[in-house]
Amino acid sequence: MLNATHSRTQPMSLAKALLHPAAKPFAFVLSLLPFAWLFYGALADDLGANPAEYLTRSTGDWTLRFLCLTLAVTPVRVLAKLPTLQRFRRMLGLFTYFYVVLHMLTWAWFDQGFDVAEMAKDIAKRPFILVGFAAFVLLTPLAATSFNRAVKAMGAKRWQALHKLVYVIAGLGILHFFWMRAGKNDFAEVAVYAAILAVLLGWRVREACEPGLRRQDGRRPGSRSDPGVPQGNSFSPRSWSSMLSRSRITWTLLPSTSTSAARPRLL
Ligand code: HEM
Repeated sequence: MLNATHSRTQPMSLAKALLHPAAKPFAFVLSLLPFAWLFYGALADDLGANPAEYLTRSTGDWTLRFLCLTLAVTPVRVLAKLPTLQRFRRMLGLFTYFYVVLHMLTWAWFDQGFDVAEMAKDIAKRPFILVGFAAFVLLTPLAATSFNRAVKAMGAKRWQALHKLVYVIAGLGILHFFWMRAGKNDFAEVAVYAAILAVLLGWRVREACEPGLRRQDGRRPGSRSDPGVPQGNSFSPRSWSSMLSRSRITWTLLPSTSTSAARPRLL
């Protein structure tokens, strides 16, 4: 009796809240807020003296923020012992792509008037645009292969190899930002993002290199007691689990709660 009353009055734990059916729609709406805010600002003509520049820069900033958020999911999940956080990573990765597409569209529209020849010239002429464009090009296959079907079609090993491009993309994104700010000698913000990305990527490198890596629940990846190994569900053929259990880095990316969630996700 006492226990029942206690559990009724207890606040929902974060892990449970993340599993709530409304959690993903909520995260989706939250991720759309910057876009809604910019859209509203454009309609209300409330984006300052140079709305085009404001839009390009804001969408660039949001691309970088979502890249950081996406890359933060795994370390936070492991360090805070919140396996359910994993459910949000693909969505965050796809929002990174959404904002970079908007960012590129604002440049193509306001700077280049959608003139393809001019766009090509600008990419060739300005190194910081070339670097940003390269990051966009590399992000495209990651977004395109973020779906379970693509993972299955490619096989886990090739999927993982492709998704390691995220290290290059993060580096190019920072270089793009650095180069853009170099003209103004203003590196404070660049340094903050570079430090965040260095920590997030450094954590992954350490996890991948450290011998005797253990997952957050303390069990060895791929062991019999490992609840993350898919046990013959319809999606996962045997090759899946054997491939995944051989790969250390993948296991740092995988949740341990349910078989359906035990698939690699974008970034
Ligand atoms: C992952 C890819 C990219 C990231 C992370 C990124 C990020 C950024 C950031 C953070 C800024 C500076 C915003 C500020 O000053 O507050 C910026 C500016 C800019 N980016 Fe990107 N960007 C990317 C790709 C691209 C692409 C593909 C293009 C165009 C081809 C592009 C064109 C520009 C332009 C024109 C500016 C503004 C320059 C100015 O106002 O002087 N970026 N970007």
